[in-house]
Amino acid sequence: MDLRLHLMVRIVLTSVLCLAGAALAVLWQTDRALREKSEIAAENVGRLVELHLIERNIGFLRTSPASNFAEVLDASQRAGQCIRYLSPSGELMESSCHGWEPSNSAVPAWFSTLFATVFGADREVTRAVQFRGRPRGAVVVSPDMQHEAAEAWRRIGPMVGLSATTMLGLCVLCYFVIGRALRPARDILNGLDRLASGDLDARLPTVQLIELGRISSGVNALAAHLQLNVAAREALTHKLVRVQEEERRSLAHELHDEFGQCLAALNAMTAVVVETASAQCPELVPQGKRIDDVVRRMMEVLKSMLLRLRPPGIDELGLVECLKALVSGWSGGSGGRLRFDLEITGEVGALPEPINVSIYRIVQECLTNVSKHAEADRVAIKVQRIVHGNGAARGDQIDIIVEDDGKIAGEAFAAAPGIGLIGMRERIAALGGELTLKPRPDKGLRVRALIPVPHTA
Ligand SMILES: Nc1ncnc2c1ncn2[C@@H]1O[C@H](COP(=O)(O)OP(=O)(O)OP(=O)(O)O)[C@@H](O)[C@H]1O
Ligand SMILES: [Mg+2]
Repeated sequence: MDLRLHLMVRIVLTSVLCLAGAALAVLWQTDRALREKSEIAAENVGRLVELHLIERNIGFLRTSPASNFAEVLDASQRAGQCIRYLSPSGELMESSCHGWEPSNSAVPAWFSTLFATVFGADREVTRAVQFRGRPRGAVVVSPDMQHEAAEAWRRIGPMVGLSATTMLGLCVLCYFVIGRALRPARDILNGLDRLASGDLDARLPTVQLIELGRISSGVNALAAHLQLNVAAREALTHKLVRVQEEERRSLAHELHDEFGQCLAALNAMTAVVVETASAQCPELVPQGKRIDDVVRRMMEVLKSMLLRLRPPGIDELGLVECLKALVSGWSGGSGGRLRFDLEITGEVGALPEPINVSIYRIVQECLTNVSKHAEADRVAIKVQRIVHGNGAARGDQIDIIVEDDGKIAGEAFAAAPGIGLIGMRERIAALGGELTLKPRPDKGLRVRALIPVPHTA
């Protein structure tokens, strides 16, 4: 739930609770006051009846206390009250109910029911009448619950109305004040979204509120730290790939110049030995031929090692020719069992060293994987340069897609890649690109690498 809405719900609930509490307190006070009135009425009427008994006894009055009951009540009875005078045996001697007009009170029915349920118990007040220490009956005051509820409603109605209006006004005010106070939180969330989407240059705004300010500065410090670490990791991976390429190149040179020359010399010498032996010592000829076979085998191994260590002629022939040579090599090697389609579009011939070698290595690893794992009939290789924008805003990408129609063992390759995929990812990450591997909808795997091209290239 939205923080503003969440706070508003809490404020409204608290206000409603406070209002209900205040209303209950007023109702309780009203109830106390009404009960007190009934007690006062019972006390007054009781005393007056006792006075009449005394007057009659001394002969001042010839009537019974009950005959003057109406006169007695005038002074004490209030609307909505029934007052009865009962004889000591409980017989009703006199009663009087002071009427009232319920239709004028406009009390909601639910309120009357609620009031009667909560405060209805023990509302009758009984006051014993005595004369010369002997019980002479009792005065019973019974209030009419409808009237009592109307009285309570009269007291509570304006208070609840005023409080509810004030509360409503306060809530509207709170809504705007909270919205204003939370404006920095919106900016913080926007900043966090940018950070989460990978924009590590994004920073959260400086905020006056202490709590939000601390969150902001804490996240900014973390982002700065992360940015430094990512930059350091990228630089390291970059260096690793470069060092690996340099190492491969120097190893290839060493093998070619030293080992290759020695093998060539050995090959020439073996030919001389075999020739001399066939003239002077024929029994040595088979041994000589065997040495010759071993030397040739070593030369073949060396050749394939050199091919793997250094893409042949990438500096001299260019990337496009090297990719064509790579694909035709694989095509010839498969004996036509596997069909290769190579499509190169856009300007990819003059890319700088780390990018062109990486493209070659990525395609090379993908083709190796297809032949090793896929059992495919067809491989499509697409290398294209995508141009975005122009002038200073130009940001090109190299898009490499290798798709086959072979079989894949579930998603296992994504969870436990071998050295090939890891190396590919590192190369691409070092160049600031991204690699995705997705099973194709029908069958086979789709490997896609997107590599950004620097402005100058
Ligand atoms: N084109 C493909 N079709 C089917 N499975 C593939 C394909 N490419 C890769 N895989 C799966 O992904 C896994 C990881 O490939 P990766 O190239 O990283 O390792 P590898 O080829 O097994 O060993 P290496 O380290 O020699 O490259 C493979 O073992 C294979 O199961
Ligand atoms: Mg592999």
